Order: sequence, then structure tokens, then C-alpha cells
Amino acid sequence: MALIFPESFLQEVMDRNDIVDIASRFVSLKRSGGTLKGLCPFHKEKTPSFTVSPDKQLYYCFGCGRGGNIIGFVKDIENLDFVEAVKYLAEQAGMDIPDTNEGGAANNAKLRRTIYKINSLSGRFFYECLHSPEGEEALEYIMRRGISQAAVNRFGLGYAPELNKLLDYLRNQGFTDDEIIESGMAVKNERGDVYDRFRNRLMFPIIDVRKNIIGFGGRVLDDGIPKYLNSPETAAFSKSYNLFGLNLAKSTKDNYLILVEGYMDVISLHQNGIDSAVATLGTALTPQQARIIKRMKPEVIIAYDSDEAGQKATQKAIELLAEEDLTVKVLTMGDGEDPDDYIKKNGVGAFRELVDNAKLQIEYKISKLQEQYNLDIVEDKIKYINELALQFAKIKSPVEREIYVKKVAQETGVSADSIFSEISRLNVISERKSRIDGFKGQPSIGAIRSLNPKKENALRGQRLALSLICSDKRAADLAMENLIESDFDEGLHRELFNLLMGIWRNGHTPDARIIVSQFEDSANVSRILHDDQNIEDKLLAMEELIRFFADERKKRNLLDTLLNKKASQEQTLNTTNKMFEKGGRDQ
Ligand code: UTP
Ligand code: MN
Repeated sequence: MALIFPESFLQEVMDRNDIVDIASRFVSLKRSGGTLKGLCPFHKEKTPSFTVSPDKQLYYCFGCGRGGNIIGFVKDIENLDFVEAVKYLAEQAGMDIPDTNEGGAANNAKLRRTIYKINSLSGRFFYECLHSPEGEEALEYIMRRGISQAAVNRFGLGYAPELNKLLDYLRNQGFTDDEIIESGMAVKNERGDVYDRFRNRLMFPIIDVRKNIIGFGGRVLDDGIPKYLNSPETAAFSKSYNLFGLNLAKSTKDNYLILVEGYMDVISLHQNGIDSAVATLGTALTPQQARIIKRMKPEVIIAYDSDEAGQKATQKAIELLAEEDLTVKVLTMGDGEDPDDYIKKNGVGAFRELVDNAKLQIEYKISKLQEQYNLDIVEDKIKYINELALQFAKIKSPVEREIYVKKVAQETGVSADSIFSEISRLNVISERKSRIDGFKGQPSIGAIRSLNPKKENALRGQRLALSLICSDKRAADLAMENLIESDFDEGLHRELFNLLMGIWRNGHTPDARIIVSQFEDSANVSRILHDDQNIEDKLLAMEELIRFFADERKKRNLLDTLLNKKASQEQTLNTTNKMFEKGGRDQ
């Protein structure tokens, strides 16, 4: 990994900030043993599973699995990249930021600032063009579509003229062609000519929550193709991490966001006083966007176009949003319509009614399935119930589940009991699957819970040992004499063991914050190094663990012997089988 900041600087940034202070701004933390606990700021929960360790300066959430050091926390909570997070913390501590002009990521940050400047000048340029004689046609188009002047101003709409006028303007402002191309405002063709990307289009600036213009969408004024042209991915613009309209919707008083497909839908809704609307940027919803929504509001209402594509996209969006534990509702309009059309036709009052009556996603799914199957046909009815059971199996609240099961039972005349047993059958299958997945590579949090208790015990022992080794010299000395690499599971645990031992052996003391930052899976490392928080006598705990590991070793040896025996038996059987196969084929 290329170093962006000198390591000593990172160390100082972490030394001069306290994770407890920073996390306390977002979570109310209460002491519980050696750890601080609170409701996780990254996911919705009712009982606290977010923990902060003041000694190790790490955080970990047992609910959602997020974890890491203070830089990681700031990154996640403020939606910043690594460099931005470090700068944020440096500023908090009143530190000067070292000159980082060397190194790719720092250059990136500089380029990004340049792009913000280019975009902001371009936005103003487009806005002025819209209100100049050459913008006449665009302005007429805007009026024809019923966009108010207030909305033009609020969204900063503009007009991109023909003939490289923007390019000339930006060059005059002192930007190089390379910079303008990097910003996406101009393109270079194979012959090397540079020209404006957006020509004769109505321009929609895309603005992030910090009010930077990060890119543009541009619509043709007629039936030209493509209907919308968007800025490419640049150092300042990532489609999967942003939502159109979020800069405004973040201040809504509503307790939800409304997710729509188009720029025009967002504008139309905001103009009509519904200020909670946001749209994806010409791509399908991404998990990152779902997370951003989750960070703002507990509920989201999907209001995609009612055509087939829109309904398919709705199903996919539901999965992603539900994954974030958002309350997901779906709003449906008439044939082939989008919110913009709907409001024009029926007025905003009617749309508000749709919002109020939006169906919970599970009800939406039920009604979609009802459309799909004819319940008078037995086969269809079976399929219908099986599909529903699959959906019901995902419902976490037993009460909610029961309500739906009873409802469907009543509708179909199938007993609630058989629907329940179908659901538990599905649950068994999915648990079995996660257990199998869990043994491949790093077990996921969910999988760990369903692992067999013996295996889980062993893993727990390893985690505790690692955290003791990290925090206590005497425990580490004991471990050095009594533990071996193979006491730890291959992968993360073993890597950590070797790393920690190496650090002590070289006469240093491990710094949990630095160790965490060196692993891809920093959340998991954070979890591991957290483990000894409530242990009073670390030496005693280590002594106990050493006995535990010795036992494990004995069991393993026994198991190995057994497995070897079994393997050799199978080998013989296999050879015998092969012999028969071969014989069979040859004849
Ligand atoms: P729509 O075609 O539904 O656009 O595409 P719209 O916003 O309703 O626009 P009008 O009302 O026809 O003028 C939905 C979104 O998909 C992206 C845009 O973000 C658009 O707002 N899109 C669509 C593109 O990026 N490129 C395209 O060519 C078309
Ligand atoms: Mn549309």
C-alpha cells in the first residue's frame, strides 16, 4: 500500500483524538466493564451492540459487524474517504496537514478540488446561458414541462450551448485541457480534438451533501438520443455513492426518503413541496446508496416508474434496502407513469395520498404474487404459498410474521400451521447453507453464530488470546513460551498471532489502532482485539487459555488420527469403486 501520509503523522492524528469523544457525538455511550456501549449509529437496533474500547481505541458493533479504529469510524460515519477522514481528524486536533503532493491519493484530492472548481464555474456558466438569448429554446422547454423559476434556481438548472463555448470559457479561466477532460466536462476524440461533452442540452447539476457540484446530467430538448448524458466517473464523482437531490432532501422534516427514477421526478416533487425525493443517477440502486439512505432516515418509499422495468427495479431495490434494515414501502401509480406525470395529471394531493397509502414491501410482494398466480388453480396456489413462505421466512419479527401468515391462510384456505411449517423448513435449509458457507474461508458474523458450539469455543479462545497478547506484555511472554502458530486457525487469526509475536519479539509494543489499519478486514480485527475488555486479571486468563489450547491440541491430534484412518479407508473404497467403473466401461 502506497503511503499517503507519513506513518508518524497518522500515529499523531490517532494519538491526539480520542475515539470515545468522536463516537460520543453520534452515540450515547454507557460504561459496561472495560468497554463503552451504545446503540449502533450504523444500523437500527433497540439493544446496544456497538462497543468502544477506550484502551485500545477501537470500535466494533456486534450487530452489524462494522468496526475499526478512529479513522475508520470517521470514514464510515461521515461518508469520507481515507484521506478526508485523516484530514478531518487532523483539523479537530489543530494539526497542520503535511504536504501530500506526492503520492497518488493526495494528487487525487488535489484533482478533486480542481474538478469542484471547474464544475462550479460550469454550473454558473450554464445557468447564465439559460437566461441569455441562446438559452431561449431551453427556457421554453422548461416552461413547457412546468418547471417553475424557483425550481430552476433551487436546482441550479442551466443550458449547455453549442460550439465548445464552455471549453473556451474554462480555458480562459486558466484550466488546462487535461484538467477539463479529467473533470468530464470535455472529451478528446481519437484525432486528439478536444470538445464540450454537453452540447445543446438542459443541464442538471448533481450536488453532494457538502454542496459541491460533483457532476451533471444533461437532457436533450427533443427526442434525440441519448435522452440523458451524464458526467463520467471522475475523481470527484461516483455514481454509486451519490443520489440526485440528496443535498436538499437531507433537510426534509419527513421521516422517510422517497426514491424515484428520474431527475425530472425529483424536481417535480420538490417543486410541489415534497422535499424528501431523491433519485439514483441513471444506474440501478447500489448497496452504498442504500447505506446512505439508512444513515439519513429509518424509512424509504420506492416510487419508481410503473412500467415493467420500473417494477423489476423495485424488486431489486427492496432487497438492497431491506438488507440495511430500513422500513421499505412501495408506492404504485397507474399504467406506465412516473411521479412527474402522475402529479401533472392528478395533482400533488393525489400523490400525497399515494405516499400515505404506500404498501409495506411485504404487502407489495404479496399483491405482485397475487397478480402472477391464479389461485383457483391448485398448482398455482401451491407455488404462490411457497413463494410467500420464502418471503415470510425473511421477516424477523415473529408477531409480524404471524399476522401475514394468518392473512394468507384466510385468503387461501390453507391452514396457518402448514404455512408455518413450510417457513421453518426453509429456515432449516438456509441455516444449513450458512453453516456450510461459514466453514469456507473467514466465517461471517451470522455464520459464526450458527457454527457448532465446539468450533465456536475454539474460535473464541483464539480471539481472547490474541487480544490479551495485544494488550499485555506478561500475557504475551507466556504466549511466546507456550503457544504455537497452529493453535490458531489459518487465515486472519494465525496472521495476527504471527504479527503480534513479531512486534513483541522486536522489543516493541503493539498498537491496536495501527494493527487494525493494516488489515483489509479491519472490522473483524477490531472485534478480535476487543475481546479482553472485561478481563480483570489478564495473566490469569492467559494461563487458563494455555491449558485450553493444550487440550485443543490433544483433541486435534486425536481427530487427525481418526481422519487419517477414515481417509485411508475411503481411499481403498475409492480404488475399488474405480476398478469396477473401469471394468464396466471397458466391457
Ligand atoms: P427516464 O427516461 O424515466 O427520465 O429515466 P425522466 O427523468 O423521467 O425524464 P423525462 O421526464 O423523460 O424528461 C430515468 C433516469 O434514468 C437516467 C436519468 O437519470 C433519468 O432521470 N437516464 C435515462 C440516463 O442516464 N440516460 C438516459 O438516456 C435515460
Ligand atoms: Mn421517467
